[in-house]
Amino acid sequence: MYDLLIKNGTVVTPESIGVRHIYIREEKIVAVTSELLEESAKRTIDATGLYVYPGFIDTHVHSRDGGSTHKEDFYHSTKAAAAGGITTIFEMPNAVPAVVDKESFERQKANLLSKANVDFAMWGLCIGELNNDKLQELSDCGVGAFKFFWGYAIDKKTYSLIYNYDPENQDVIPPFDDGAVYEIFQAVAKTGKPIAIHAENADLIKSLTANVKVEEYENEFEALLACRPNLAEELVVNTAIQYSKETGARLHILHISAKETVDLVKKAQEDQLKVTGETCPHYLYLTNEDYDRIGSMIKCYPPVRRKEDQEKLWEGVKNGTLMLVCSDHAPHTPEEKEGSLFQIPSGMCGLETLVPLMMQAVNDGKISKQQLASVLSEEPAKMFGIYPQKGSLETGTDADISIVDFEKEYVVDKEAFQSISKVTAFDGMKIKGKPVYTILRGNVIMEQGKVQEETPIGKFIKT
Ligand code: NCD
Ligand code: ZN
Ligand code: ZN
Repeated sequence: MYDLLIKNGTVVTPESIGVRHIYIREEKIVAVTSELLEESAKRTIDATGLYVYPGFIDTHVHSRDGGSTHKEDFYHSTKAAAAGGITTIFEMPNAVPAVVDKESFERQKANLLSKANVDFAMWGLCIGELNNDKLQELSDCGVGAFKFFWGYAIDKKTYSLIYNYDPENQDVIPPFDDGAVYEIFQAVAKTGKPIAIHAENADLIKSLTANVKVEEYENEFEALLACRPNLAEELVVNTAIQYSKETGARLHILHISAKETVDLVKKAQEDQLKVTGETCPHYLYLTNEDYDRIGSMIKCYPPVRRKEDQEKLWEGVKNGTLMLVCSDHAPHTPEEKEGSLFQIPSGMCGLETLVPLMMQAVNDGKISKQQLASVLSEEPAKMFGIYPQKGSLETGTDADISIVDFEKEYVVDKEAFQSISKVTAFDGMKIKGKPVYTILRGNVIMEQGKVQEETPIGKFIKT
């Protein structure tokens, strides 16, 4: 007797697409067949007309737990993941405790584990000389990769991000200089794990911002863009690629927003360097022209840019230069997003719109159904060392499955979000394409939009 049978669905992986039946027992995939087997299952889902993917993975989620649980917590972010068709998330730093050594890792892991509605992996945070000698112990704990917020100042005590850095502020560690960053690359290289960077040049941003009378331009998106231009990203990415080449560290560029970066990543890959990149739906779907309609909810770092950047990013996703797409789920409260563009925090929710927006992209002919499996399942799992346990439909692996309906049309309603935060730039958008079942290790955790209310069953995934 099988525990679960998913029959008649069109099963999609980067390698193949076709109608198959998937048999699950004891949380694992035990058979994928084109003919139905004799043995029956305790439960059968008829997926006729639906598409069946290896569970989607979001490698870039800030759940705010602890530190800012008024914005979000891990119980709600992982419910949001389940609602959004996602079976594994990678928890990104910018919470308290910051994951900077074994002790903080263990503490945070226990905290997250008690609230996890989906499986999760964890990032380690680089804070320069304060923890360069702790990276190996973090790696041994099983962090998937190391995050370095290049360009941000951080709080002296909590190492949380300072969104709008004022050099007068004494309670912060100012953005690291390039020499300190080089040492971080050396330290990460020794672990063999990737270093992933936020890429904005703080020096350039500081002097450009000092030259703008921000009080006069507090609601002018163009002024924000002028202070954080493409060049700010390009400068950091250039240096990072050279550091990766020198130190041997595997480099991953997070949330790419600028057209120039796509070219830099492509060139690095052609030069056989270990460089990868990602982007997010907000850069693929929004531009500066949307600010008047959406308002301050659109503010994130790096900022959404211009049409030509957007086109280049799509090209990068299409041709595989940008191997994965993730949400950069960065919740805030609506109140926090009110006020001057230069003072409010950056970021928006993304867990419940990531998969739908990328399904819309399939419907629009921007990417193929198989590419969807690549950018949301296989590549994230491969890049951060959890493949084929996650991101595949191979027999013997975790039965993580996302079943989606490419025909379903609806309007995004932020009030229906599972997230505590309702801050999104996509409220009211008409979308075609929706996840309809989320299955985590054989357990149906979301069905027709309804997330199961039982005890969280998510596990920590060691990489
Ligand atoms: C993120 C956050 O709020 O944690 N904000 C954002 O604008 N992307 C931090 C980050 O990813 O840079
Ligand atoms: Zn970032
Ligand atoms: Zn982020």
